[in-house]
Amino acid sequence: MADTVRLGIAGLGTVGMGLVRLLEQNRGDVTKRAGSAIEIAGVCARDRDLDRGANLDAYTWFDDPIKLAESDEIDIFVELIGGEEGMARDAVERALRAGKHVVTANKAMLAHHGLSLAAIAEKSGVALNFEAAVAGGIPIVKVMRESLLGNRVSRVYGIMNGTCNYILTQMEEKGSYFGEVLDEAQAAGFAEADPAYDIGGQDTAHKLALLTSLAFGTEASFDSVYIEGIEQITPTDIEAADNLGYRIKLLGVAVQTESGIEQRVHPTMVPKKSPLAEINGVSNCVAVDGDFIGTVMLVGSGAGANPTASSVVGDIIDIARGTILPPFIHASKDLLPYKQAAMRSHEGGYYIRLSVYDRSGAFAAIAQRMADQEISLESIVQRRPGAELPGISARGQAGAPAPVVMITHQTSEASIRKALEAIEADGHVDEKPQMIRIENL
Ligand code: HSE
Repeated sequence: MADTVRLGIAGLGTVGMGLVRLLEQNRGDVTKRAGSAIEIAGVCARDRDLDRGANLDAYTWFDDPIKLAESDEIDIFVELIGGEEGMARDAVERALRAGKHVVTANKAMLAHHGLSLAAIAEKSGVALNFEAAVAGGIPIVKVMRESLLGNRVSRVYGIMNGTCNYILTQMEEKGSYFGEVLDEAQAAGFAEADPAYDIGGQDTAHKLALLTSLAFGTEASFDSVYIEGIEQITPTDIEAADNLGYRIKLLGVAVQTESGIEQRVHPTMVPKKSPLAEINGVSNCVAVDGDFIGTVMLVGSGAGANPTASSVVGDIIDIARGTILPPFIHASKDLLPYKQAAMRSHEGGYYIRLSVYDRSGAFAAIAQRMADQEISLESIVQRRPGAELPGISARGQAGAPAPVVMITHQTSEASIRKALEAIEADGHVDEKPQMIRIENL
């Protein structure tokens, strides 16, 4: 590439400003490693007058991201606006069509439109790099797109949302309720003002859909991801998991099965001895199982200005050095159609928590419903009615509900769901059963 590589940065929020700082602070090293000076030729954000804690006067300001994306003054368009549709997507598309390389942190846009954007990038002969879109500072895209190409990947999984991991860790450490910890996390600036996509699992699902495409050579298929968030996890579940030797984590898992690819995001009980159980706070962890490599696990910061800027700059330097790869490993026309495995065919162990009326026959009926589905139980724990457990009110009187926790042996999702529907219909429980999948990862 030329002596100077010119960036247009659209979006000057947390990550955008982290990028500006990194390029200023590490200018010498970045230039040496890139083999070109990396220059910010233009910047763009919604509000020019916002105090961003840095002087941006040295950079040419653009009010319109599209104008920046198509400007003759830039070689690489860095999209840090975010959002699945709208300005981010329009600007990226225009930049690619104008022959500009694109570096983006936008997981939602790529999870939905990655295939069409990749096709435009290929046609224009430019890069569409997105390391920062998956697990912030963890270089998992590069590892999958380059280092692991000799392997057949059978599974990719991990903890890919720092907000959820922080909340679950705090709930465990403090015995607090989900809502309390979420409020604290927002006050401390760990959680977004609107954390719905984080806690609802969609943010993890966006990242997982991209990893699935890289792992299995398929089109990204966000709509095929089975998603459950962490809102329903109670201190009782966390305490019960602890007593049984598990921790609860929000995992994203994509696995190749005989009937297709299973993509799922849900709270998961992992054994305390699993490395995943040791990932605490806002950290992320992504693991890949390959036939020759075995398991590779990367741990690090999945969000934040500096880690995410680190990934963006890695992508920029690749382009400056002339490394232009197909975004999803294969040419977009060679990506396979996504073949989805039905979630109901998922097999595994399950944690079930029921709030059971303490009356004769209730337990026998529940056991029968499980037996009807040929579900074998590994353990059952019943607390006395109104047991003083966090999350269970102390009702205390005879006939009041008592928490019952069951762990099943390997069974199918379809069987568990049928059994729980029948148990609920029988009327021996006073609230919807809680069900958490167990993974021995
Ligand atoms: N909000 C995300 C998280 C980071 O909490 O991990 C950006 O995807």
